[in-house]
Amino acid sequence: MNTMTTDQTAAAAADRSETETRRRKLFVKSYGCQMNVYDATRMADVLAPEGYDETSEIAEADLVILNTCHIRERASEKVFSELGKVREIKMERAAAGLATTIAVAGCVAQAEGKEILRRQKAVDLVIGPQSYHRLPEMLRLAKSGPVVETDFPVEDKFDHLASPAREKVASRGVTAFLTIQEGCDKFCTFCVVPYTRGAEMSRPVVKIVEEATHLVQAGVREITLLGQNVNAFHGLDEAGAICSLAGLVARLSHIPGLLRIRYMTSHPNDMADDLILAHRTLPALMPFLHLPVQSGSDRVLQAMNRKHCTRDYVELVARIRAQRPDIALSSDFIVGFPGETEAEFQDTLDLITQVGFASTYFFKYSMRPGTPGAEMDDQVPEDIKSERLARLQKLTDVQRHASHAAAVGQVMPVLFEKKGRHPGQIAGKTPYLQAVQVDGPAHLIGSEAMVEITGTSTNSLFGRLAERVS
Ligand code: 5AD
Ligand code: SF4
Repeated sequence: MNTMTTDQTAAAAADRSETETRRRKLFVKSYGCQMNVYDATRMADVLAPEGYDETSEIAEADLVILNTCHIRERASEKVFSELGKVREIKMERAAAGLATTIAVAGCVAQAEGKEILRRQKAVDLVIGPQSYHRLPEMLRLAKSGPVVETDFPVEDKFDHLASPAREKVASRGVTAFLTIQEGCDKFCTFCVVPYTRGAEMSRPVVKIVEEATHLVQAGVREITLLGQNVNAFHGLDEAGAICSLAGLVARLSHIPGLLRIRYMTSHPNDMADDLILAHRTLPALMPFLHLPVQSGSDRVLQAMNRKHCTRDYVELVARIRAQRPDIALSSDFIVGFPGETEAEFQDTLDLITQVGFASTYFFKYSMRPGTPGAEMDDQVPEDIKSERLARLQKLTDVQRHASHAAAVGQVMPVLFEKKGRHPGQIAGKTPYLQAVQVDGPAHLIGSEAMVEITGTSTNSLFGRLAERVS
């Protein structure tokens, strides 16, 4: 009779796998923003020398990492339902004599810490976003019992994160994310980021240039610079001088082979003149800008602690368009912020009509524990939020269609990223970040070619190669 408990069976299996020479499998699932996508790649890079290869099959993973998002309640709660499923898999694998380690990373890990272990006992490790360089050490510790690591360490995690192998970068594709800034000091009253990601921190310029060069040498052609407040970037250069985002983009645009540079997410108050100008003077800087305004009502903006009004935003957009008239703008909006009236919501619709966005992301206000918004007593009922969201969707659908329709007949450079939906097709992006499907040879993937836009669908454009390509 087998008298071992599930835990003992798993521990014995773990010991066995230690002595075996087989490499182990890692499954990472990321929720939320692009910074989490970037972090997931860096976690995989740090674990590769430890013997972990990535898999897309959770059932074969020796280590499962859920890289979580805390920005809205739904995103946060999803983690706990997902953990329930991962626990089942852990039990099934244990029955087959295989050990599984479950780690929770990301912003829910940072915010909830020990509470995660209380709610889901199958979890072995809870690790906050500032500690990923310590993953190997934490995994070793977790063998003797659950570990929670959510401190903001004094050392900079980026200094300790391993670089990916060249083949690894190549396998990830033509476009890459690169985090240059983390954290936020703005304290918008709805947002948990200043609490989960901490104070603003910019990486040193030389490290970013090194990482970007490494990516480009491995075949990356487009880099999106990431930060919660990316345009507040103020990293130090080699001489110890502060470098702005515009200065950084100028440096990066000298890397041979780097065709396109993008950045996100920007705060309107940090949109410096040199950055606006860079959109005209630096050809590699793409004419696309994600510039969240959140609301079109000045009272709501003030209650959100955004520190700008709608007029500031409209004037800023005019200054940007004066330098780069064709720039495509996108924005985030929150509907149903506490106290938002019908007239204030209407102000948001009016602002959208006035500015004209190529794309928009909108969210129902979600109360986040510990933020000032959660303490406000005039919360908007769910059904009103849903109804407003639907109206916003309708209006922005119209704008997206208009921006797609305006592209038809234009000839523009498309950077091809992958094979298309159908055989013989390749897929890429315009400078304005619109997806395009084209009939063309696969060897164009990784390069730019001129494409005439011939048609549109809901989410994508269709085109034909405008140059003869052999
Ligand atoms: N509720 C709803 N949306 C939110 N966002 C941030 N916090 C909340 C919240 N509590 C949205 C903002 C931000 C985007 C990343 O998420 O629009 O720009
Ligand atoms: Fe959150 Fe506001 Fe900071 Fe953006 S600027 S991360 S919305 S607090």
